[in-house]
Amino acid sequence: MADLDDIRDGQSYGAGIPPPDQKFFLKGCDSMDWGMKDRMSRIFNPKTGRTVMLAFDHGFIMGPTSGLERVDLNIVPLMEYADCLMCARGMLRTVVPATLNKPVCLRSDAGSTILTELNDNVVLDIRDACRLNASAVAVMVAVGDKKYEAPTIANLYKAVDKGMKMGIPVMGVTAVGKDMVRDSRYFGLAARVCAENGANIVKTYYVEGFEKVVSACPVPIVIAGGKKLPELEALELAYNAISSGASGVDMGRNIFQSDSPKAMIQAVRAVVHEGLKPAKAFELFKSLSKRKTSK
Ligand code: R5P
Repeated sequence: MADLDDIRDGQSYGAGIPPPDQKFFLKGCDSMDWGMKDRMSRIFNPKTGRTVMLAFDHGFIMGPTSGLERVDLNIVPLMEYADCLMCARGMLRTVVPATLNKPVCLRSDAGSTILTELNDNVVLDIRDACRLNASAVAVMVAVGDKKYEAPTIANLYKAVDKGMKMGIPVMGVTAVGKDMVRDSRYFGLAARVCAENGANIVKTYYVEGFEKVVSACPVPIVIAGGKKLPELEALELAYNAISSGASGVDMGRNIFQSDSPKAMIQAVRAVVHEGLKPAKAFELFKSLSKRKTSK
C-alpha cells in the first residue's frame, strides 16, 4: 500500500537552469534511440570519440589463419586493450570469456570461404545478436560486384531494419570487388552506399584522399588494417586515417600477426586515442616489446 502520509512536495526544481546539452558525440547519431546511443558509447570512447576494435573474425572465411590458430591463447590476452571485439558468433560463444564485459561487434553475414567466389550471404537472426548482447552487428556489402552487389546491399538493408527494432547498430563492411580500383572515389562511393542504406558505422580501407571519404559519409568510419605491414607502416596507416577524420580502427592482422601483438595493440591505442605520431608510437611499440622479451 502506498505511503500516503508525509508525501513531501518537491523543492529543488532548478528553475532557470537549462537542461544539459544532450548532443551526441558521434556524427549522424543524434536521432538514435537511447539503446542505440548506449551501444555506440560502449563501442566508441565518449572521451575521445574513437575506438580500437580488435578484429578476429577472419576464421569464418579463412579458417585458422596465422595468428588465429588458437584464439584462446593468442587473442584473449589482447582483449583487455581493445575497446570492442569484432568476431563471429562461434568464436564468441566458445572462446571469448563472457566475464570480460567488452562490447562486441558481431560478424553477422556468412556464406563464403576462401575456397570459392563470394557467395550469396545469409544474415544472422537478430535475436541471436540480442542473446549474445551484441553492441553492433557487421554486414558486408560488395559495391561494384555485378553478381553480389544487390544481394549484399539487401542484406545490409534488412539488417538495419532488424537492428532498428532491437536498438542494435549495424556496421556496413565494404568489401572490395576484384575489378575495383582501390581509391578514394571507390571507397567514397562504397561508404556512402552503406550509410545511405542505413548503416550506423562504416568499415572501409584507408586510401589517399581519405578526408573526402570521411566528409561524404554521414556516420562514423573505422578502417580495417588489411594485410600485415611492418609495424611502423601499420602505425602510419592508423595515424593517417585518424588524421583524415576516421573514428577508429577495426584492426586484425596488423595486431595479431605482429611479433609482439600486445605491444602493437597498445601502440595503436596511443595513436587512436592520444594522437601519438607514428614515430613515437613505434618507439612505444619497441619499448613495450622489449619489456615483454626481458621478462
Ligand atoms: C573484414 O571483413 C575482415 O573480416 C576483418 O574484420 C577486417 O578486414 C579487419 O581485419 P584486418 O585488419 O586484418 O584487415
